[in-house]
Amino acid sequence: MSNRLQDKVVVITGSTKGIGKGIAMKCAEEGAKVVVSGRNQEAGNALVEEIERNYGKEAIFIQKDISSELGCKELMKESVAHFGRIDGLVNNAGIFPRGTILDTTEELFDKIFDVNIKGAFFCSKYAIREMLKIGKGAIVQIGSTNGYLGGENLVAYSCAKGAMLTLNKHIAAHYAKKQIRSNWITVGWVASEGEIELHESMGVDQEKLVSWAESSIPSGKMQTAEDMAYGVVYLLSDESNQVTGTELHINGGLGLKSSI
Ligand SMILES: NC(=O)c1ccc[n+]([C@@H]2O[C@H](COP(=O)([O-])OP(=O)(O)OC[C@H]3O[C@@H](n4cnc5c(N)ncnc54)[C@H](OP(=O)(O)O)[C@@H]3O)[C@@H](O)[C@H]2O)c1
Repeated sequence: MSNRLQDKVVVITGSTKGIGKGIAMKCAEEGAKVVVSGRNQEAGNALVEEIERNYGKEAIFIQKDISSELGCKELMKESVAHFGRIDGLVNNAGIFPRGTILDTTEELFDKIFDVNIKGAFFCSKYAIREMLKIGKGAIVQIGSTNGYLGGENLVAYSCAKGAMLTLNKHIAAHYAKKQIRSNWITVGWVASEGEIELHESMGVDQEKLVSWAESSIPSGKMQTAEDMAYGVVYLLSDESNQVTGTELHINGGLGLKSSI
């Protein structure tokens, strides 16, 4: 532990499991006061206990569904009510159900957009309001290789991540003068709880998922939540105070190879 986030207040959406949980733990290990969030109360409370036990840092769980503006607003308001400020926001909550353009319904499209971009947009809005009060802040957008092109069967997800990439550039361009930064991480392929669950529902067990992923990723290895967390810590820390609008690819080269 090197306390690179000492006493910064960091809100991480979707941190009850998967990549968000790994990010929350690493931020706490680096000295941050962490707001764990998501809908699953039991998992959120368990993570708070784990953080306090392992790192002796204060953390809280705030149960919110971020698919509405109100949920995002309340998450930031309650974070400030508890910790007094927000230094960092990680827009991590996301869902990735499959669908081609031919079979995606309006209902599925709205569900994906509500969590993956509407949530990130409005969490950014209310976090920026708080960051303006303290004169600085850092946001990390948890993106995907699909934000650049997108798999045939992931079209609404890809479009939502593409919009998140624009949101990243927008915040970076217009809030740099206020010392508020935004950076994006291109996640490669992580065997998170959600990814395993989704593949199992499609008849692909974890072993098959890993061997498929390893043969698709140039580095031959899946990434981990911890790999993402190292990047997040850098982008939230003062070490990156002049870094904004960047896209940090933590993907073992996934998406770099030509598909032709
Ligand atoms: N895994 C990968 O290979 C991969 C690749 C590229 C990008 N990503 C991105 O990485 C991020 C995390 O994915 P993951 O793989 O860790 O997924 P995961 O294991 O399914 O975890 C998703 C998290 O999002 C939360 N969440 C979902 N809907 C929510 C809602 N309406 N309101 C609040 N929280 C909500 C879940 O919490 P609750 O269930 O408690 O609500 C959970 O904590 C996503 O943005 C995803 O697009 C993942």
